[in-house]
Amino acid sequence: MQKITAAITAVGGYVPEYKLTNAILETMIDTNDEWIRTRTGVEERRILKGEGLATSDMCVPAVLELCKKRGIASEEIDCMIVATVTPDMFFPATANIVCDKIGAVNAWGFDLSAACSGFLFALTTGATMIESGRYKKVVVVGADKMSAIVDYTDRTTCILFGDAAGAVLLEPSADENGIQDSLLKTDGSGRQFLYMKAGGSLNPASHETVDAKEHYIYQAGPQVFKAAVKGMADISYDLLQRNNLTGDDIAWLVPHQANKRIIDATANRMGLSHDKVMLNIQRYGNTTAATIPLCLWEWENQLHKGDKIVLAAFGGGFTWGATLVSWAYDTPTAPAEKGTE
Ligand code: UT7
Repeated sequence: MQKITAAITAVGGYVPEYKLTNAILETMIDTNDEWIRTRTGVEERRILKGEGLATSDMCVPAVLELCKKRGIASEEIDCMIVATVTPDMFFPATANIVCDKIGAVNAWGFDLSAACSGFLFALTTGATMIESGRYKKVVVVGADKMSAIVDYTDRTTCILFGDAAGAVLLEPSADENGIQDSLLKTDGSGRQFLYMKAGGSLNPASHETVDAKEHYIYQAGPQVFKAAVKGMADISYDLLQRNNLTGDDIAWLVPHQANKRIIDATANRMGLSHDKVMLNIQRYGNTTAATIPLCLWEWENQLHKGDKIVLAAFGGGFTWGATLVSWAYDTPTAPAEKGTE
């Protein structure tokens, strides 16, 4: 039997309209634009404003966009995987809610929690489902409403994060292009450096946990930074090595956008010039599971069939990974208007 390869065949994205700029943050906390830009690369981030709006409300336009681009109806989707650490609620899964909102009545779905590596973990899971021959159309979404879990009095974290969603459609490839290889890792001993202290079964929500601000992101920045620089660079390099590739073979690095300095270190280790690195951290900040599909969405019209690209991430957990993709299509029409919807 011929081996089936999973290919990304369409991309969608969504960013909320409201821009939280460094200048606005300067009025809220003791920080300054220069520190934020030089230490992180972020200039502004998008925030989902409005009563009753959640992560699923950003997934919906992203998924509908990719359906439109590919010319498929929601009913054709077999499975929906939503990578997120900010689900609409603990249960049911955000994937269920997205399927309901878009009328994907023939799909089953689930959420996947792997923080900033969530999209890569979900992409590999979805690709495996396609490779099995059992499913024909799997939608993989990376989406986070980080503003729901950010403490806007904590200057060490609130400058970093933003809200967004990105989505890809996976289908059996018509040729040898598609998801080629993935290296994924977890190390739970890193959980103490980046996590939400309360709200789970270990520390259920109580007045005390709310008063202690334990439902926000806690991050030991320098420790995570150290692990991320090494983790993301090493795994990207190892992926190249195991596929007998060098930086010269790679058209684009698509890195998780946590800190420009981490991205630069990864590109250097891979021997990649910086004009081959997708970088939009200045506009959106760290949108956790959304960063990588959001880059694909923005750069889609610059990607060509056969381009080899490396997607790489590092995040809470610790979780990290790199995926090698041979891009499967040339953008058929002019790219959709980017920005707000
Ligand atoms: O996506 C998931 C994975 N997450 C990451 O990859 C994030 C990894 N970590 C980082 O990107 C960086 O550690 C941060 C951007 C979070 C922090 O940068 P840093 O260079 O590690 O700074 P630091 O925490 O060592 O702080 C340096 C100084 C401190 O002051 P002192 O003690 O030297 O006087 C901080 O209090 O900068 C101060 N500082 C700030 N100053 C102005 C911390 N936050 C701010 C701020 N504005 N917002």
